[in-house]
Amino acid sequence: MATDPRTATNPISRFPAGFLWGVSTSAHQIEGAADKREPSVWDAFTAEPGRVKDGSTAEVACDHYHRYREDVALLAGLGVDAYRFSISWPRVNSPDGLDFYDRLVDELCAAGVRPVPTLFHWDLPVGLDWLERDTASRFADHVSLVADRLGDRVKKWITLNEPAEHTLLGHALGAHAPGRQLLFDALPAAHHQLLAHGRAVQALRAAGAADIGIANSHGPAWPASREPADVEAAEFYDLLLNRLFSDPVLLGEYPQGIGELMPGDVSADLKVIGEPVDFYGVNYYAPTRVGAPQGEEIEFGGLTLPAELPFTVREIEGRPVTDFGWPVVPEGLTELLTGFRDRFGDRLPPIVITENGCSYPGIDDQDRIAYLDGHIRALHDAVEAGVDVRGYFVWSLLDNFEWAEGYERRFGLVHVDFETLERTPKASYGWFRDVLRAQR
Ligand code: FCB
Repeated sequence: MATDPRTATNPISRFPAGFLWGVSTSAHQIEGAADKREPSVWDAFTAEPGRVKDGSTAEVACDHYHRYREDVALLAGLGVDAYRFSISWPRVNSPDGLDFYDRLVDELCAAGVRPVPTLFHWDLPVGLDWLERDTASRFADHVSLVADRLGDRVKKWITLNEPAEHTLLGHALGAHAPGRQLLFDALPAAHHQLLAHGRAVQALRAAGAADIGIANSHGPAWPASREPADVEAAEFYDLLLNRLFSDPVLLGEYPQGIGELMPGDVSADLKVIGEPVDFYGVNYYAPTRVGAPQGEEIEFGGLTLPAELPFTVREIEGRPVTDFGWPVVPEGLTELLTGFRDRFGDRLPPIVITENGCSYPGIDDQDRIAYLDGHIRALHDAVEAGVDVRGYFVWSLLDNFEWAEGYERRFGLVHVDFETLERTPKASYGWFRDVLRAQR
């Protein structure tokens, strides 16, 4: 594979020793073998006509369940230190479900790749509901079961993936499973997921785990202008999508005005939610430009944002966009991380970038190389500015089932032909492998 000219002339600076390089996936998006698990809310949602853009389902997806050995070989060929995948709760609930993860973890360990499982990546078993407080306790029981089985080999754990998106898209706007459109009445779903995170930390500690984090999605919220109404709208957006999820985990408190809106004994729950974590996972894709509400429904990034929202989302002009329409803004990552350091100070554990990537078509994916190159450099800028960053995971190893977008959005370093399931490493796979080699 030819070396990218950018890297040849100006190599990416070295990251600190022990820095963890990896790639991420999630169970529902790649595993398939739907007949070997109980249904999740995503299976139910996908079955409703019109929910997924290309009408596809994740019944087969990448068929990773049957082809995991080939996929682990791809990880080994890439030379990553670690692999972030998720454990499907509905699969664990079905007979022999945990055996699959047992085999996968063994295969990873044999290949010298550290397993980093996420314990919930949106595929809630049908019958459970994040609006119910009890789901948090059920999750803790599930986590104990998984930790008892895998804890001898798994040392690094992630509790939840992006409770912000799962709340916003799944419960407030209805664009994702379970398809509810509750707007602000979705807030209990956020609280119960956060409580589930805290309970999972406790369960993992009880099982002897010493390296635990969460993967939260974050991005700077840029006001559309300096007009007070735009600034205020951007602050509100920041509170709702960033601080509502970072503050309880890192500070043990909700941003002002939010705790009152949550159900149950919130101050007791916050003690659980604020259980110390060993690292803080950040999924970063792009900043959002936010303006004052315009009193009308708007379409943005494939979403319909209702008129009642106290903000609108505007285009970030003058930037390349990915196939998804997301702007490419690497320095947003530096801004985000230095902002975290300033805001949380000593309360901020080491950061791991648990997802970063982009959707582009094609196998000679020079656009993806440019995106990743820019973001890894921006991450290095944050390290130079004194932010304690310990790892970086590309989303994703494989093209996969991109939720409501179906198979149209391709995020993989490896191309998947969804007819034949053949895997073909893209140009970015060779590029990332060379970046990792140069780091060593
Ligand atoms: C994140 C999700 C992940 C994937 C990427 C593109 O929000 O965690 O599953 O869909 O976006």
